[in-house]
Amino acid sequence: MPGVTAAYSGTFDPVTFGHTDIIARAAVMFERLIVAVGLNPSKNPRFSIDERVALIEATVEEAGLHNVSVKPFDGLIVDFARENNVSVLVRGVRTVTDVDYEKQMAIMNRDLFPQLDTVMLAPSPEYAHLSSSLVRELTGLGAPVEKYVPKPVLPELLARFGRQS
Ligand code: COA
Repeated sequence: MPGVTAAYSGTFDPVTFGHTDIIARAAVMFERLIVAVGLNPSKNPRFSIDERVALIEATVEEAGLHNVSVKPFDGLIVDFARENNVSVLVRGVRTVTDVDYEKQMAIMNRDLFPQLDTVMLAPSPEYAHLSSSLVRELTGLGAPVEKYVPKPVLPELLARFGRQS
């Protein structure tokens, strides 16, 4: 979609291959993609907002995705969309529960900002079971996690849980 700026929003605590799958696919669909990293204090993130942004930036750079930028946000995603000229919100939907929840959010966001549409992408099957909290739990319990997170994330994730790379 030439001329269209999209945003892919989430907490990304931390970014996983499930997220990078969506980022890479959305990057070819839109002229510009902004990964919008929500502060989301209610989730009590393990990584600070600056750390989450830096990990995604390193991941995007490693993947060579030149039309993708990363920005933090606090407050409403519609305000972020307005301020950044975003007309499409990208969301990943893994399960039927995700679809119901995303549909509700998409309708509410359009109600708040009618110029904003939501595009939902199904994850590639190998990542359909992934979530950041599952990855954090596995890391904390000593399981191998290199299959689930991008290279720049792995050492930081292991260190956060007192493990060696
Ligand atoms: N691959 C792997 N994991 C995925 C995934 C994918 N494709 N898509 C989602 N997930 C995981 C995430 O890692 C996250 O895991 P966790 O709960 O273990 O941390 C979980 O699924 C939920 O992700 P998501 O639905 O993106 O929620 P989020 O909490 O990461 O982010 C915000 C939600 C911040 C984007 C959303 O709450 C928001 O926009 N808030 C702003 C306030 C606002 O505008 N509210 C009004 C909305 S109508």
